Amino acid sequence: MLITIEGIDGAGKSTLLKSTVSFLRERGHEVVAYREPGGTPLAEEIREKLLNQNLDPIVELLLFEASRASLVREKVIPDLQSGKIVLLDRFVDSTLAYQGYGRGLDRDLVEMLNNFASSGIKPDLTFLIDIEPEVALRRLKKRDRFEELGFLRRVREGFLEIAKREGERIKVLDGNLSQDELLGTVISILKDRFEFV
Ligand code: TYD
Repeated sequence: MLITIEGIDGAGKSTLLKSTVSFLRERGHEVVAYREPGGTPLAEEIREKLLNQNLDPIVELLLFEASRASLVREKVIPDLQSGKIVLLDRFVDSTLAYQGYGRGLDRDLVEMLNNFASSGIKPDLTFLIDIEPEVALRRLKKRDRFEELGFLRRVREGFLEIAKREGERIKVLDGNLSQDELLGTVISILKDRFEFV
């Protein structure tokens, strides 16, 4: 089973991911978690480049996809095949929201590359933590180059549009809730959706 967590920077994804991993492990499940971009030595090197310099939007898109191909082919697919639950901090929806809606690249092309880089694997369930960009930016101590108000507004709208189109897969969570409340909501959705939880 593949579960992804999405949202703009400062939404609280990483904290929710950690607590969800702990919850599932306490229930006796074998769980692995990765973050995108990253998760393999090559993908971590690409991450460094992506976060620390200004890049042409097309180059940026292709680097995110290269990082994804490395992670999916070296880790995610083998993990899923061995029966593990895989949690991802960001996946294909981030690329559509950031590079498609945020940077304005052709969305059909982004979706095509997303499918190609992820070898067609799709999340079974996605949690989108939705929050006002103003609130999210206030939470961030150290900003990277993706964290600019106008840009994050377009990214947020993008995420919400994707969620509207794929309501069955994507569950929207209110990022103003406390982490305990967020985890409570995630647990009840997981129990609802998957018998073994
Ligand atoms: P993230 O790891 O969430 O950043 P941080 O460690 O600062 O919380 O993601 C790194 C940045 O990359 C984030 O600003 C979003 C951006 N990103 C894209 O633009 N496209 C993508 O496909 C992905 C996966 C991330």
